[in-house]
Amino acid sequence: MDRYAVFGNPIGQSKSPFIHRQFALQCKQLMQYEAILAPTDGFADSWRDFVTSGGKGGNVTVPFKEQAYQLAEVLSARARQAGAVNTLYVDSAGRLCGDNTDGIGLVADLTRLGVNLAGCTVLLLGAGGASRGAIGPLLEAGVKQLVLANRTVSKAQAIAANFDSRVFACGLSDIPEQAYPLIINATSSGLSGGRPEIAVKHLNNSQLAYDMVYGALPTAFMQWAKQQGVPQQADGLGMLLAQAAAAFTIWRGVAPDVEPVMAIIKKQLAV
Ligand code: ATR
Repeated sequence: MDRYAVFGNPIGQSKSPFIHRQFALQCKQLMQYEAILAPTDGFADSWRDFVTSGGKGGNVTVPFKEQAYQLAEVLSARARQAGAVNTLYVDSAGRLCGDNTDGIGLVADLTRLGVNLAGCTVLLLGAGGASRGAIGPLLEAGVKQLVLANRTVSKAQAIAANFDSRVFACGLSDIPEQAYPLIINATSSGLSGGRPEIAVKHLNNSQLAYDMVYGALPTAFMQWAKQQGVPQQADGLGMLLAQAAAAFTIWRGVAPDVEPVMAIIKKQLAV
């Protein structure tokens, strides 16, 4: 049976095994998917052991996405732009290929939520790996202008330097005053119950406040946006599922439906 796995450290909380097993059932794919805890300094060895024992492909999560990028022999344009790999597979010529489906997962989820990205002005908060991987796919989807605001402005500037003038870097306190129909929180502040400190005025014309973090309850950023009257809020569960679906499609050539799996995970989170 074809073997797949997610590599991370820690890995116990990963929903990837559940998601991919559900996708496999749905798409009638005979495959295994497991979670592998790799030592922080031993990702490459873990991956090689896995391939030697028949592994066909893998997902890579924190803290190994940059190491997977270094290890891959062939990188997709998306992976190169993100500087990180979340999906690995061995091609028919035996080469290790690295891709990144995080950004296209975000775009797919925004589309599912009814956002029209063509011509849209986006405020993207945060300048870590999550943010960096999202920018290329957002621009490709037609985003007209992307304001990248970060607490540490130099990090936003360093990322913006990889893109054209559609991407503008600034600090959280000097965000240009204009309408932002879509605001995306790509900071990790939600993991500790916080939110990025930005002025309320930037939410005035927003239709959707999207947080890449997810949990049982709406994140602090989503709750705040709701209080300020933003009509729609969403967390990153849909993005998690859509990046997984894109990886699954790369490996198996069939595209799973994320909705039924999302419904199950939402129920699990609620108990
Ligand atoms: P990831 O790979 O998830 O993006 P990361 O690379 O550690 O994680 O980046 C975390 C991002 O969240 C950074 O942009 C960080 O801001 P700084 O660059 O100024 O550190 C941002 N962040 C974390 N906590 C935050 C908070 N409470 N308010 C605003 N930004 C925060």
